[in-house]
Amino acid sequence: MSAQYEILRKCYEYYRSVTDFVPRVGLILGSGLGGYAEQMKVETEIPYGDIPGFPVSTVQGHDGRFLLGYIGQVPVVAMKGRVHYYEGYSMEQVVLPVRLMKMMGIEILFLTNASGGINRAFHVGDFMMITDQISSFAPSPLIGENVAELGERFPDMTHIYDTELQELIRTTAQEEDIPIREGIYLQTTGPNFESPAEIRMYAVCGADAVGMSTACEAIAARHAGIRVCGISCISNMASGLSDEELSHLDVQAVADQRSGEFKRLVTRIIEKM
Ligand code: HPA
Repeated sequence: MSAQYEILRKCYEYYRSVTDFVPRVGLILGSGLGGYAEQMKVETEIPYGDIPGFPVSTVQGHDGRFLLGYIGQVPVVAMKGRVHYYEGYSMEQVVLPVRLMKMMGIEILFLTNASGGINRAFHVGDFMMITDQISSFAPSPLIGENVAELGERFPDMTHIYDTELQELIRTTAQEEDIPIREGIYLQTTGPNFESPAEIRMYAVCGADAVGMSTACEAIAARHAGIRVCGISCISNMASGLSDEELSHLDVQAVADQRSGEFKRLVTRIIEKM
């Protein structure tokens, strides 16, 4: 058994000692979706700090806990607060929650975040369905001994974001009359925002939005055979694309302003999963 799997087993044993709930969808709540709990019929809450070996998030606005319950008829585990690489955890620790949710039973992972818009056609407050990603500027979460119990050494990443789930997001956004962009998400390590020169490079690379999470979680999920989808809220235009200086408070303020529609969209999508 790999060392990481042993840690995961301990986390999972703790989880099962608390509840027999089997979620089908995992939902990671990014900035602005922190108040999502009210959309769910929450049956159980598990603070990350109660789980032995679980990395506990420290970033402002990320109050860490699993919410277990139902969205419509769908059993869901939502993560209120995620773990970021820039907090000092290893990538393996950063994706531990995704792997634990796999062990809980999820088949689908729904990723949300706030990001900086690189595509000049985007506007602050837009939603972007993630169609593909660039994670080459951050270490792979699969570096190290392979967790063979979850997946293979060299997993394919041709279709990280599930084609059918993308279609579900498109049609649901249309039904709800919520405009949604589509594009490629690029993950940096953070915690500093990018320089304008870096953003110009990322634009040449084909990125439409930039953020400090998500892509590593998607890789770990695909490794474990989970179907993945994701939506980003463009909380600011990336460095050099507007006259504004960037701040975490502004990111949160925009994400909060857009949270009503974001919650509605995510809820309608999950109800149909
Ligand atoms: N850069 C990186 N991460 C982000 C940004 C950004 O501009 N906005 C929100 N998260």
